[in-house]
Amino acid sequence: MPSWPTETKYISHSTLRIDAVPKLTGQARYSSDIQAQGWLYGMILRSKWPAAKITSINLEKARAIPGIKAALTVQDGERTVRYYGEELAAVAGTTKQACLDALRAIEVEAKPLPHVVHETEAMKDDSPKVWEGSPNASNPKPSDKGDVDKAFAECAAVIEGFYTTPVQLHHPMETHGSTVSWTDDGVTAWVSTQGVFGSRDALAGGLKLEQSKVRVLSEFMGGGFGAKFPPVLESVLAARLSREVKAPVRLMLTRFDEALAVGNRPSSFQKIKLGASADGTLQAFEFDNYGTGGLGSGGTTAGGGSGVNLPQPYIYRVPNTRVKQTVVAINAGGARAFRAPAHPPASYGMECAMDDLAVKLGMDPVELRLKNDPSEIRQREYKIGIERFGWKEKYKKPGSSPGVVKVGVGCGGSAWSGGGGARTTQGEAQINPDGSIEVRLGVQDLGTGTKTVIAVVAAEILGLKPEQITVKIGDTRYPPGPGSGGSMTCPSVAPTVFDVCTKTLEQLQTQAGIADARGENWFSACKKLGVNPLVVHGQWQPGLSDSRACGVQFAEVEVDTETGMVTVKKITCIQDGGLIVNKNTFESQVNGGIIMGMGYALYEERIMDDLSGVVLNPNFETYKVSGIGDIPEIDITLLNMPERGVIGIGEPVTIPTASAIANAVANAIGVRVSSLPITPAKVLAALGKVPPSTVSKT
Ligand code: MOS
Repeated sequence: MPSWPTETKYISHSTLRIDAVPKLTGQARYSSDIQAQGWLYGMILRSKWPAAKITSINLEKARAIPGIKAALTVQDGERTVRYYGEELAAVAGTTKQACLDALRAIEVEAKPLPHVVHETEAMKDDSPKVWEGSPNASNPKPSDKGDVDKAFAECAAVIEGFYTTPVQLHHPMETHGSTVSWTDDGVTAWVSTQGVFGSRDALAGGLKLEQSKVRVLSEFMGGGFGAKFPPVLESVLAARLSREVKAPVRLMLTRFDEALAVGNRPSSFQKIKLGASADGTLQAFEFDNYGTGGLGSGGTTAGGGSGVNLPQPYIYRVPNTRVKQTVVAINAGGARAFRAPAHPPASYGMECAMDDLAVKLGMDPVELRLKNDPSEIRQREYKIGIERFGWKEKYKKPGSSPGVVKVGVGCGGSAWSGGGGARTTQGEAQINPDGSIEVRLGVQDLGTGTKTVIAVVAAEILGLKPEQITVKIGDTRYPPGPGSGGSMTCPSVAPTVFDVCTKTLEQLQTQAGIADARGENWFSACKKLGVNPLVVHGQWQPGLSDSRACGVQFAEVEVDTETGMVTVKKITCIQDGGLIVNKNTFESQVNGGIIMGMGYALYEERIMDDLSGVVLNPNFETYKVSGIGDIPEIDITLLNMPERGVIGIGEPVTIPTASAIANAVANAIGVRVSSLPITPAKVLAALGKVPPSTVSKT
């Protein structure tokens, strides 16, 4: 079994991103920067009906617009659309304005159908059906473990709460899209994607081409958060347009498109009953939840794949549980995997219930967690967190903070069973006689620092500096890499690069007749290669990575009881990620996760209009995410556990932030705001300062 070196120069230390300069200077080429010879703009026409039978689409007038080179329908014949934003047609033209004019000139005949865009409405018997002849809501039986009713009857304290979370939109800074060129040789597509190979296969399938005829590239991308896996409909349309116009087509979604059609995190409406014995040992849990993942999630198509069904009672050991989860279809864009699917809402519901129970028991909330959390790692993390955060000094009875601006603290834990590593990951290194080296993997970098991780591992094994390693990624012509999801990238890539470089070094040493070719011997060894470079292939090896990351977070907030504004002052995070490959990019993931979790706690919420079925807040003026002025002090403690191997942490670090903040708000004001996002209006309503009816409900 291979093992990581114990004495290290780069692994577990901090290396700045090797691609920081090209990114900051604008040299990095994203999908929308590709200057393919003679490229045209592509644009998509979307349904303006939340539900309708489309009877005809006439493209003639669009085709007549000056500058328009092609127009096509997504699908021929009559069809039903089920949300505002569903793709109908696409055009390609020489200017953006020509495309916009063409979209307006397309004549669509449709028979509107009744629609429903809110979960609670959709669950009613007389609600319009998203899928004809099928109920909007799945109607599952509760699943019981133990004797729940008896256990509740014997509990010393029982709380009941109704905790809700909104539909959250991914909104990566770079929208979905691609530049696609279709020639006689095949299709070349620069796609903003979390999986170049998955996108290649989806494109080949969608275009009915051999996979060998499709090449997907993605060297740089501006985030995805789970929304940028196939289907790649927008790239398929760009390819079809490209074939017609015999030129490359750049088709990037607008921010509005992004809000309508390419994924979201499902909502949750969690009725929770939780009971414990007098010493705080959890005894019984009852859970009745419903939520929507948009059109594809209800009735007979029900499934929790995109995160409607929540893993409750989350990280806690409860002997008696009853769980019922209802998946509701509405006329809205479908959910997609979103950073730790199902976990942030599960954490929010459960951690709120834990704090409400702690208050009822008169117990310290951290003590209640230590009593019921079976994870040894989180136990350790809580103990470190208590000290670093100063929990014992900061925790006061709920609502006891004096004055108008009240201070509160809260906490929460996370578990993520992903990671582990994709065993199919391969890579190669090319060593040239002049000592230069290129490491190639068909992985992509969401923006998390994958290239840097590759350089760090290669430099460590070869005794070189990270900047000596040329890293090539994001191309289906390189050895196959994993999709960047499930916090799998680092534990897939790091062991692969370890294997590639270990084998490269062995072969170089053999060929050069040098016992140790690392460090100062590197150049003389490479020189002995003669004329030909050395290319060595390697693959993922077991024993170098692990799954199951654990973390805890503490939050300190100020709540202005006159304006209802919540200000997060500090987040303390204690996180396990196994062997830390690169401290800098690890911490950067933690920062990003916390900042996104803050958005979930305080700002983010998709708002649907009943009448038109449109997303009312599709841009950053109206869909609020955390801004630079909102960012609190973030104190990160990483547990380095090299014995566990590499574990991905992109997802786990965003899970408990909203829970800790929500609990801190409840601690500050002494009442629970039981609905995310915690807006000023909801705070004031909870304080009885405005009537609850003035507060919008998701
Ligand atoms: Mo992720 S939500 O597996 O990109």
